[in-house]
Amino acid sequence: MDWGMKNRLSRIIRPETGRTVMLAVDHGYFLGPTTGLEEPEKTIAPLLPYADTLMLTRGVLRACVDPSTNVPIVLRVSGGTSILGNLADEGTTVSMKDAVRLNTVGVALSIFVGSELERKTLLALADLINEGHEAGIPVLAVTAVGKDMARDARYLGLACRIAAELGAHIVKTYYCDGFEKVVKSCPVPVVIAGGKKIPERDALELSHNAISSGAAGVDMGRNIFQSEHPVAMIRAVREIVHNNMTPQRAFDLYKTLSESEEAKGRQAVKAGL
Ligand code: 5RP
Repeated sequence: MDWGMKNRLSRIIRPETGRTVMLAVDHGYFLGPTTGLEEPEKTIAPLLPYADTLMLTRGVLRACVDPSTNVPIVLRVSGGTSILGNLADEGTTVSMKDAVRLNTVGVALSIFVGSELERKTLLALADLINEGHEAGIPVLAVTAVGKDMARDARYLGLACRIAAELGAHIVKTYYCDGFEKVVKSCPVPVVIAGGKKIPERDALELSHNAISSGAAGVDMGRNIFQSEHPVAMIRAVREIVHNNMTPQRAFDLYKTLSESEEAKGRQAVKAGL
């Protein structure tokens, strides 16, 4: 692996802890204006100081993120389908040249193992890895789970391992029972998606379980930006990922930070700001 590739990987997974808190805000590429991301710039700006990496699409990056930011960018480069159509029929939407021009530290593409289009998405992953290798850009493979697939260790283990065998540098998947088996049989770092919004305490528990099972971090979206207190939530998640905080202590921190945010809000209203 050359220097550029290693350098970019170290900007995704922090060398101090070997872990990462990636903030995923790429949902609009197939879901449109998802709750919490209707105005991406407003959602993203306050969370940026607490994200190790920001995962998003080219359009939102250009339109909604200040180019002077220091937060490393992982660019979603697959898409072309929507929630109304056949999601597995994605294609590659951004050239490697443009990913380089946008100064990204990684590119992300979904694979749909077990779908009728699995071959197409796996070969698209392989092509992207070949191009990434030439440019020194790591590839994050996202194991998308179709409606008919079980989110269990057998299926997710299969999808993660195939992604790693094809050469993905990092794999994003879902947490499941027996997750340690998924991590153990995947020779590259695994990060988890948060999935649909669940109560904060549960999302913190999920993050903790994933980390304890060997995950290298989270690539979390809705459980952060759809939280009533997104900044408090990402800060609590960070403590779990980087400092092994227990879910209960992280939840206490979430509550304390939320209360102080609310108090500041009340003061601002009082002062007529
Ligand atoms: C879909 C994706 C996302 O759009 C997103 O990154 C998922 O994040 P979360 O589940 O935490 O909202 O990767 O496959």
